[in-house]
Amino acid sequence: MAERANFGSKLGVVLASAGSAVGLGNIWRFPTEVGENGGAAFILIYLICVVLIGMPVMLSEFVIGRHTRSNTATAYQKLAPGTWWRVQGGMGVFVAFIIMCYYVVVSGWTLYYAYSSLVGALQYTGDDANYFSDFFDGFVSHPWLPVAFSVLFMGMVHFIIVKGVQNGIERFSKVMMPMLLLIIGVLAVCAFSLPGTSEGLSYLLKPDFSKLTASTVLSAIGQAFFSLSIAMGCLCTYASYFRKDTNLVKTAYSVCVIDTIVALMSGFIIFPAVFSVPGLDPEEGAGLVFKSLPYIFSQAFRSMPVMGYVFSLLFYLLLFLAALTSAISIHEPVTAYLHEARQMSRKKAALWVSVVCMTLGVICSLSFGVLSDLTLFGNTIFDNFDALPSVILMPLGGIIISLFTGWYLDKKLVRDEITNEGNLTFRFFKVYIFLLRWIIPVAIGLVFVNQFIGLS
Ligand code: TRP
Repeated sequence: MAERANFGSKLGVVLASAGSAVGLGNIWRFPTEVGENGGAAFILIYLICVVLIGMPVMLSEFVIGRHTRSNTATAYQKLAPGTWWRVQGGMGVFVAFIIMCYYVVVSGWTLYYAYSSLVGALQYTGDDANYFSDFFDGFVSHPWLPVAFSVLFMGMVHFIIVKGVQNGIERFSKVMMPMLLLIIGVLAVCAFSLPGTSEGLSYLLKPDFSKLTASTVLSAIGQAFFSLSIAMGCLCTYASYFRKDTNLVKTAYSVCVIDTIVALMSGFIIFPAVFSVPGLDPEEGAGLVFKSLPYIFSQAFRSMPVMGYVFSLLFYLLLFLAALTSAISIHEPVTAYLHEARQMSRKKAALWVSVVCMTLGVICSLSFGVLSDLTLFGNTIFDNFDALPSVILMPLGGIIISLFTGWYLDKKLVRDEITNEGNLTFRFFKVYIFLLRWIIPVAIGLVFVNQFIGLS
């Protein structure tokens, strides 16, 4: 068999993994969750979740991926042959597949909004606060426009995946991630000149603990998982392309730091803008980025329409880049699985994934249009594709990965992998194992139970 693919450089490893983590979750979902859960108090809980749950689970995925140098499904089979643990590997691939189907829909929207900004379709000088709400609804229920943009987006993902690990994923991440970080920096500086800056900042920085409930914690854990790309085989698959001398702890740490900074910066961009337009509610919810923001941009920069144009264009370009680097990381585990475990050529595997996900993606997308009456478990198809992974499969995956690494795997194997056969030191090994064995499964378990009590 041919030599397995590798990432070429340390920088490539960090940028590709950070590219996976930084996505719609940071720029679209994070501010929404912050708004819905009352601001600074949520952020505080979120940060705790990233450190105590996110980072250890990410490190475990790195250990499993790099040690076995296999796609996720095969990785668990190699480490625990003949046991039930291997279900987790298959589940990772399955969850990736499901997430891909709806991620490509929302990513298509980002592409459409970037395009609309470019051609000036998002410039509006009137006063109707519902103008962009109607704009969005009109777009998503259009018979073919959103589908066309999703297909275009999937085409780009496919193009990068087919080029392979080093020439595709790594090379594109190395270009796109610095661009993304530059854009977000520029936007943050611009946002600080808005009239609503101080109000926006105090909303983000002054915690109001009276708003804290169990469901805040639950949302924070869910958000941390989604944002860090964990529990579904993405980072495990990427880690299988890491080299022997990659420092796993440092990489996990860098990815978590970059991901968190980008999430916080999007908050710092979005909330000053929200507070600059009187009468808008920061607790707006999921429509924030697509319905309120275009209006906010047009109002906040009313006296300087050019700035409004540039700000909006950069923002949607940012969202699109973030979506693209994440989407390739969701595509890869499924492609790698079909390629390695099902003996397809990489090209053929990638084509299967793209075509099947796109077909389901089209159905997902049409649930805003002609299929809006079609429901499953009382929700639209789109909502099901969103909820099933993030409410059930990802938290469950998190528990399984922690228990697997904490209890089942040989501690020497784990330690050797983390320290590169003793060449590095890892002072927190005991704390890490303790978190995996007790704190993480119990925390997620409680949240889980709470959720189901809450639901019924
Ligand atoms: N983390 C990405 C984001 O923030 C999305 C993503 C990529 C993801 N890979 C994932 C989410 C794996 C869950 C699991 O948008």
